[in-house]
Amino acid sequence: MLGIKDLMEQPSGHEQNADQIAYWNGPSGQRWADRHAVQEKLLGPIADVLIDRAKPKPGERVIDVGCGSGATTVAFAKVAAPDGFALGLDVSEPMLSQARALAPKGLPLEFVLADATVHPFEPASFDLLASRFGVMFFADPIASFINLRRALRPTGRLAFVCWREPKENPWMMAPLMAVYKHVPKMPPVGPEEPGPFAFASEERVTRILKGAGFADVAMEPHDLAMDIAIGGGLDAAVDGSLQIGPASRALQGHPAETYEAAKASIRETLAPFLKGQSVVLQGAIWIVTARAA
Ligand SMILES: C[S@@+](CC[C@H](N)C(=O)[O-])C[C@H]1O[C@@H](n2cnc3c(N)ncnc32)[C@H](O)[C@@H]1O
Repeated sequence: MLGIKDLMEQPSGHEQNADQIAYWNGPSGQRWADRHAVQEKLLGPIADVLIDRAKPKPGERVIDVGCGSGATTVAFAKVAAPDGFALGLDVSEPMLSQARALAPKGLPLEFVLADATVHPFEPASFDLLASRFGVMFFADPIASFINLRRALRPTGRLAFVCWREPKENPWMMAPLMAVYKHVPKMPPVGPEEPGPFAFASEERVTRILKGAGFADVAMEPHDLAMDIAIGGGLDAAVDGSLQIGPASRALQGHPAETYEAAKASIRETLAPFLKGQSVVLQGAIWIVTARAA
């Protein structure tokens, strides 16, 4: 339950994004923030892939949408420096607190607590709109991308990564299936609703970006070997699955006995994947690029 202080620290956003804003400012957003260092080891290679495709240049101005704890914003600012700039934008106060605390001093960057759907960006003032998994949570994605595109110069470009279908991401789904042996399934997420897999459909992403005025939309599939133990062995893989991601969401609000039984099932499911101290399962992303027409 959020207290008055929590509510006061949440940014005002598009009213349809209220659930997501509450989610990323609640216990889940806090767990993402607390797990920053571990999470960065898991997702760091994906930042490298994103930067490779986004091709930021010295002097450019970059927006990092849904920047979370800011690792990618820092990476963009390092390339853009000294004359460019990186703006990390996020609705999550816990994650932005981490971002502000962790970013090295002296880089040309700023973190703003704001909803990308409605934030009044200075029009035509950025060269690159980038995101690592921060654009799948908009209730009205076309309106959100119209707002973001307005911030880009006519020569501007977009590059982001998002997850492909759940079945192509067993690193998230295998722990969830183990949890479902103990708890009812979460209500199905509709194909147009926000969530981690909201941009899995190539047809939908293309429709959204073209609808928002982007051109030359390209989606390249990229497969990953995700060590969900991050070199910490089976216990670390189980704990990680219980802290963030769909398995942790499905267990929310369930009693301790159910939690312990689900934990044992996750362990059993993941054990066959243990090699040394790593637990490697497949992950699958789209690398999406477009031009601000
Ligand atoms: C899966 S996390 C990714 C965080 C970070 N980019 C990373 O890769 O570690 C999604 C992020 O999107 C942010 N987010 C969700 N809806 C948003 C919105 N409408 N405007 C800005 N940020 C948003 C969340 O607060 C969260 O930090």
